[in-house]
Amino acid sequence: MSEQPATPDLRAPSDDAEALCLLNEGDIDLEGRLLDASNVTLVGTIRTGTLAAECVYKPVAGERPLWDFPDGTLAGREISAFLVSEATGWRVVPPTVLREGPFGPGMVQLWIDGDDDVDLAAFVRRDDPALRRMAVYDAVVNNADRKGGHIIPMPDGHVYGVDHGICFSTDPKLRTLLWRWAGKPLTAEALEVLERLADELRSDLGEQLHEHLTRTEVRSTQKRVAELLRTRKHPEPSGEWPALPWPPF
Ligand SMILES: Nc1ncnc2c1ncn2[C@@H]1O[C@H](COP(=O)(O)OP(=O)(O)O)[C@@H](O)[C@H]1O
Ligand SMILES: [Mg+2]
Repeated sequence: MSEQPATPDLRAPSDDAEALCLLNEGDIDLEGRLLDASNVTLVGTIRTGTLAAECVYKPVAGERPLWDFPDGTLAGREISAFLVSEATGWRVVPPTVLREGPFGPGMVQLWIDGDDDVDLAAFVRRDDPALRRMAVYDAVVNNADRKGGHIIPMPDGHVYGVDHGICFSTDPKLRTLLWRWAGKPLTAEALEVLERLADELRSDLGEQLHEHLTRTEVRSTQKRVAELLRTRKHPEPSGEWPALPWPPF
């Protein structure tokens, strides 16, 4: 995965805006398939004349149908998850685009080299502000799969989340390892972000999400944000759905 770009002049994108340009415009060279993945998840290098990076490519054609997510595509939910992440300003989801790839349309996401020294099992139990923000984010997108392998801690303390193909159900399906704050008051910062998100869901963000999600899924997202703002608390397990992902890592 850490193979150097063939052309020495190429450099890695220096920020998210450059990464998005590269993901939108670059040529994709596939190198392999992630075998632990449940759908077709391919990894490769993406290059423009000046930039190069590793990326994940999930073609819509490689998606397995899911009985409980009958509408839309996993790729559409992944891009929706990115749009919501951008709107929060928390940068939970790495730069992600929807585009044509070697096997047709799909999602292309920047590959993130996390901090290998972190012991994930211990890390996910920590009272870490980035994890706490991720817990709020997951409640908003109704993430049904926040397992350990979908949490990528970085050396600088930032924490990325990946694999948002089964978010945005209209039923309560929050399934996560991040229950540490369940029932606790939301932070002032989270409340501020949720207020802004509620506004954006009624305007531009809502419009953008309608391209990838059903009307009811967008409305349910608005309702989840409204409910968080009403209770001003982190959600608690509903009791109707397994609250922990299996396997957990
Ligand atoms: N953008 C990414 N950067 C780094 N690692 C990733 C990224 N996306 C996925 N992974 C890794 O690859 C694994 C499989 O990808 P995932 O998106 O979970 O596929 P699937 O939808 O099939 O479960 C993840 O658990 C994670 O460890
Ligand atoms: Mg996965």
